[in-house]
Amino acid sequence: MLFKELIKKKRDGGKLSEEEVKFIVNSYTRGETPDYQMASLLMAIYFQGLDYDETLYFTDSMLSSGKKVELKIKGPLVDKHSTGGIGDKVSLVLAPLLAELGFKVPMLAGRALGFTGGTIDKLESTGMKVELSEEEIEEVVKKFGFSISAQTKDIAPADRKIYSLRDATATVESIPLIVSSILSKKLAVNTEAIVFDVKVGSGAFMKDMKSAKELAEGLVKVSRLYGKRAGALITEMGQPLGRYAGNALEVIESLKALSGEFEEDLKEVVCSLTGALFSLTGKGSFEEGYQRALSLLREGRAFNRFKNWVEYLGGTTSLKVEAEKLTVLSPVSGYVKDINGEALGYLIVELGGGRKKADDKIDYSVGLGFLKKIGDKVEKGEPLGEVFYTKGNAKTWEEKFLSAFNFSYGEIRKPRLIKEVIL
Ligand code: URA
Repeated sequence: MLFKELIKKKRDGGKLSEEEVKFIVNSYTRGETPDYQMASLLMAIYFQGLDYDETLYFTDSMLSSGKKVELKIKGPLVDKHSTGGIGDKVSLVLAPLLAELGFKVPMLAGRALGFTGGTIDKLESTGMKVELSEEEIEEVVKKFGFSISAQTKDIAPADRKIYSLRDATATVESIPLIVSSILSKKLAVNTEAIVFDVKVGSGAFMKDMKSAKELAEGLVKVSRLYGKRAGALITEMGQPLGRYAGNALEVIESLKALSGEFEEDLKEVVCSLTGALFSLTGKGSFEEGYQRALSLLREGRAFNRFKNWVEYLGGTTSLKVEAEKLTVLSPVSGYVKDINGEALGYLIVELGGGRKKADDKIDYSVGLGFLKKIGDKVEKGEPLGEVFYTKGNAKTWEEKFLSAFNFSYGEIRKPRLIKEVIL
C-alpha cells in the first residue's frame, strides 16, 4: 500500500477501508511512515472528515496498538470521561462519591492539554503517587472503591504518537479524530458503563452545541458498539466550573465540596453524572441517582474516603497555596455578561499552571478565582476575581484577567448547566 495514495484518496473525499486505516495507524506507530506524510493525512481528515465506519476503524486500530486492562473486580465497574474545561474538578468529587454508592471506579485520567487542566496534574499537587500498575489499580479499587491514575504507557501507544502530531499540526479539533482518540483509551479498560461529560462553550474544545452534540453522539455510538453501556451529558463550559481553576486550588475546592460546602454548578454536574450512571447500569432511575448523590454530598460522606485514598498513596490533603493573591476589582457596575474561558485557561498556562511544551514543569500553587460569574450583579470596585501568581507583575495579570470579562448594564440570565442528556 502506498501512503501517498491514501493521502490523495482522503484529500479528494474518498472513504478509507479497514485495511487502509490499519496500515495507516500501524505503519505510523512503527515509524515506517514519516511525520510529514501522517501530518498531511491528518489535515485531509480535518477537512474531509471520517464517516462512522472509518471512525470505528481508527478507534479499533489505535485500541489494538496497546494493551487491554482486564480488572478482576466485582462491579458495577464504571467510568466517566470529560472532554475538558476550565475548573473542571468533577472527577475528584464524583469518583469517591460513586464509590460511596457502591460503584467501582477505575479511572485513568490525563494531564493538562492546551488551555484545559488535567486531573493527574491536579492530584500531583497533593504529592500522591499517580502512576499505578494494573495490579496497583486493582488493589486501590478493591480498598477504596475508586482509583484515579495516569494513563499507562502501554495503553493505545498509537494514539499518544498521533495525538502529539495533531497537537503540533493544528488537527486536534477534528470530531472523528477526537472520538477515536478518546475511545482508544477508554475502551481499553473492562468497565461495564461509561458516561461522557461533553463540555461546550468558550472554555471547552467544542464551542457550539452542534459540534458538542456530534462529539457526544459519536462517543456514545462507538462505545455501544463495543458492548459498553454508554451515555453522555452536554454541559455548560461558557464559564469556569466552580469558583477556582488551577491545580492545588481545585483540589482544595474539591475537598470543600466533598465536606458538604459545594458550589451549585459543580454539584449539578456531579449529581447528574451519577444519575446517568444509575440509569445506565440499571441501579435506579436518573432522578434516584441524582438525589442519592446529593444527599451524600450534603452529608459530606465521601470526604474521608477521598482523604484516606490520597494519604494511602503518599499525598496530603492539607494543601497550602503559597502564591501571591491579587484581588481583581470590577471596573464597572452592571452584570457579568460573558467570560472567555479559553483566554482564562491560557492565562493559567502563562502563570505556570499548565504546559506550553510536554516537558514543562507545573507550578501547582497558581490559578484563578471567580467571585462573580455570568448573570451576577457587580458594583464598580467590588471584588470580581482573584489571581494567584508567583512571577510577573500584578498589573499585567489584572489586565489579562479583566480582558476575559464582558459586562452588561441590563440583567443577564444565567446559562443552563445541563444542556442535553443522551442515555
Ligand atoms: N482528548 C483526547 O484524549 N483526545 C483528543 O483528541 C482530544 C481530547
